[in-house]
Amino acid sequence: MKLTIPEQILSIAPYEPGKPIEEIEREYGIEKSVKLASNENPLGPSPMAAAAVQENIGNMHRYPDGSWHRLRNKLAEKYGVGRDTIIIGNGSDDIIAILCHAFLGPGDNAVMPFPSFLMYDISVRAAGGTPVRAPLNGMAIDLDAVAGAITPMTRMVFLTNPNNPTGSHFSKNDFQRFLKAVPEDVLVIVDEAYAEFVRDPEAYNALEVPLADPRIVCLRTFSKAYGLAGFRVGYGIMDPAVADILHRVRQPFNVNSLAQVAAAAALDDVEFLEKSVKVMLQGVDFLQAELTAMGLTVHPSQANFFLVDVKTDASRVFQELLKHGVIVRAMGSYGFETCLRVNAGLDSENKTFISALKQVL
Ligand SMILES: Cc1ncc(COP(=O)(O)O)c(C=O)c1O
Repeated sequence: MKLTIPEQILSIAPYEPGKPIEEIEREYGIEKSVKLASNENPLGPSPMAAAAVQENIGNMHRYPDGSWHRLRNKLAEKYGVGRDTIIIGNGSDDIIAILCHAFLGPGDNAVMPFPSFLMYDISVRAAGGTPVRAPLNGMAIDLDAVAGAITPMTRMVFLTNPNNPTGSHFSKNDFQRFLKAVPEDVLVIVDEAYAEFVRDPEAYNALEVPLADPRIVCLRTFSKAYGLAGFRVGYGIMDPAVADILHRVRQPFNVNSLAQVAAAAALDDVEFLEKSVKVMLQGVDFLQAELTAMGLTVHPSQANFFLVDVKTDASRVFQELLKHGVIVRAMGSYGFETCLRVNAGLDSENKTFISALKQVL
């Protein structure tokens, strides 16, 4: 077979997700492993979401609601925005891809911080656009560098707040200053996948007041604080004119019916959300204190994960930790050869990680 593949597509390095727990347990002959690698909610799903899924399981022969009616109404109410400003996706990954397909053509580019979430780069290339990287300043997104990289061919910029994998954030003031440097025809996509964990009151939060600028697209997800990563639900809030374009490109039934039911119920389960955030933030504080006491450097984070510099080859430490049944993320592919990314787990899981790391180091 001789296929003609666009250079653009061949340039994509496939996203490497963390291996599933079952596979690692089989590979290493271990049981009850601890996964602190994908920034998931260690408490599991919201009980209200789980109950709603049970109740609706008999409807799986029907197509999902293609306009996400119930979930969209709940989000509109929660944020005090119009229904026509909301797009729901099969994870926020889906919305990133839809944005790229809708707004990028050959010759167009999208500016993004680097290192940041790798799906921006992949989606931009897949849509035929060119990713333009703006290097971080230390561990933080350099908003001046992002603004400085914008050219007449730039259709969108991505900002991640807090940033994955560094956990850094930018302030309201920094963002307002940045926005002034962005041309009128460039979308500013603010990915707030970890917004629920942010502790700094000065941090920029795109949904604190209804969107103040038609260029801003705010992305959020049910995968992290809400504990629904396996169901794949994310949403974007944006100017209705932008949403209108996305409707032309998206798949008609892009969010499955049980996922919609689960997400709507999870929004009502305020108690679970609050408990989840509390447990994970306590976990971050515990882990950072323990790692600092071990003489390691931890990077400040506004999310449920952070980077720890283990001061040696982190991929080796990652492999050794696997043998102890602990799964974290080595950050070599992001350019941080001596860093692991760890998310907060349950108290017992955090302790298992610390004890395994002490043995490995
Ligand atoms: C910054 C950021 N954006 C988006 C996503 C994707 O989230 P979802 O599960 O909603 O596709 C992630 C997941 O890791 C992320 O870290």
